[in-house]
Amino acid sequence: MTAAAPAGLAAPAPSRQDRAMQPETPAQDPPQTAACRRFRLPDEAATRAFARALRPHLRPGDVIALSGPIGAGKTAFARALIQDALALTGDVEDVPSPSFTLVQTYRTAQGEIWHADLYRLTGPRDCDELGLEEAFATAITLIEWPDRLGAELPARALALGFAPDNAGAARTVAARAGDPRGAAILAALPEPGDA
Ligand SMILES: Nc1ncnc2c1ncn2[C@@H]1O[C@H](COP(=O)(O)OP(=O)(O)OP(=O)(O)O)[C@@H](O)[C@H]1O
Ligand SMILES: [Mg+2]
Repeated sequence: MTAAAPAGLAAPAPSRQDRAMQPETPAQDPPQTAACRRFRLPDEAATRAFARALRPHLRPGDVIALSGPIGAGKTAFARALIQDALALTGDVEDVPSPSFTLVQTYRTAQGEIWHADLYRLTGPRDCDELGLEEAFATAITLIEWPDRLGAELPARALALGFAPDNAGAARTVAARAGDPRGAAILAALPEPGDA
């Protein structure tokens, strides 16, 4: 029990020495649970390797929400994942950014992959017109700027938030699973740099 200061008297402030002995407040990083993991990607090759590590775990019906500022690496990640899926059948494609077409689709041995960039989406009606709702059920969907969907984004989506480190090539990815399946996928991913 903590002793209260007598009425009208403020408790004495801790001396500088007392303060020095108090434990430091722990950093506020999210806990490394399976539902929430953080990956540090020192360069673009690490981003591509991270995408290739995630790819085998995906199946139609999975939704990956890629957020982060312009130039954060969302397309670089999606391109590596799609090219890895295409390579299963020896296919090679450029995989351009869908920033103007809004959606690009790919047929792969792992199922259809939809790659969307919704930066220019003007309203939820566009989402219907793009056919995204059906894709959420039948394809693997990779979505840049998923915030544009609001409540239309499936709650089960696996969220990957890309954050650039200053002006260098390193990125930090904050990953958050939307359901137990996503959590199992996150738990299975190796740390970048693991063999
Ligand atoms: N670690 C890294 N991961 C990903 N991209 C990196 C990394 N380091 C440097 N880059 C560079 O950063 C840029 C990322 O561009 P990208 O088009 O992937 O961004 P984006 O997040 O899709 O942006 P936008 O919101 O405009 O679509 C590329 O030029 C890429 O070469
Ligand atoms: Mg992009």
